[in-house]
Amino acid sequence: MEKRHSGKVAVVTGAAAGIGRAFAVRLASEGAEIAAVDLNPCDQTLDEIKAIGGRAISYQCDVSSPESVAKMGEDVLRDFGRCDILVNNAGIFPSCRFEDLDLAEWRRMHAINLDSVFLVSKVFVPGMRERKWGRVVNMASNSFGQVAPGLTHYIASKGGVIGFTRALASELGAEGITVNAIGPGFTRTEGTLARKPNFRGQTSEELYGVLAERQAIPRPPTPEDMAGMLSFLASSDADLITAQTMYVDGGLIRAS
Ligand SMILES: NC(=O)c1ccc[n+]([C@@H]2O[C@H](COP(=O)([O-])OP(=O)(O)OC[C@H]3O[C@@H](n4cnc5c(N)ncnc54)[C@H](O)[C@@H]3O)[C@@H](O)[C@H]2O)c1
Repeated sequence: MEKRHSGKVAVVTGAAAGIGRAFAVRLASEGAEIAAVDLNPCDQTLDEIKAIGGRAISYQCDVSSPESVAKMGEDVLRDFGRCDILVNNAGIFPSCRFEDLDLAEWRRMHAINLDSVFLVSKVFVPGMRERKWGRVVNMASNSFGQVAPGLTHYIASKGGVIGFTRALASELGAEGITVNAIGPGFTRTEGTLARKPNFRGQTSEELYGVLAERQAIPRPPTPEDMAGMLSFLASSDADLITAQTMYVDGGLIRAS
């Protein structure tokens, strides 16, 4: 039977762990071929995709580096010929109080979380334009609308992602390309589990529970919850949806 994403090639950044791995496996389970891009080898992701009979290739790449992204782009286009679904997921989220934040850390955050979205989109959007079809999905965060001390650099970078998403969507809508973002709630991943306790001394394990209690649906979000939204946005069911940030956070009450 034809699967939802059969015949499509998806590039997923940050695919070695967490939400990115769930994205890659979900799209593969629905028929897409996967270019799994990460700083680290994507062994587990490739094993999971192989186990369900899918095709995936891993590319080691620093998405904040123009040279590394250019090389990855050449390799992906050589191996797959195109990218139909681009998922700009790679990102970091160390916290730091504003008074301790220096310009180097501010710039590092923006290079990895925001420059990367620009750089990788520059590589793959031209082919989508030629084919008059494409999907770009960027990772924002529900912290954009929350009271979240210690995250000025992170939230500024994700605000940039939301702005970029809206602006690029308005350029590409007439070309058959949609551009959307997903704003996860605090999700159990390798990245959040490795976080140091926050300024109130709360560990990530504690925070999953604390935040879930503030949600209309009181359970922590999972990478699979995010993957469901990605699959929808990448599908023809979402043909008329663009420029949106879809919050997948159980209805956590937002400050704005
Ligand atoms: N987990 C959450 O609670 C949460 C909430 C809101 C938004 N997000 C966003 O979702 C995305 C994924 O988060 P996660 O929790 O799965 O993270 P994670 O740390 O578990 O995984 C991130 C992956 O990105 C890769 N990566 C980091 N820097 C990279 C670089 N420069 N080049 C290439 N790869 C790089 C890492 O190696 C890792 O495999 C991020 O953009 C994050 O900001 C996550």
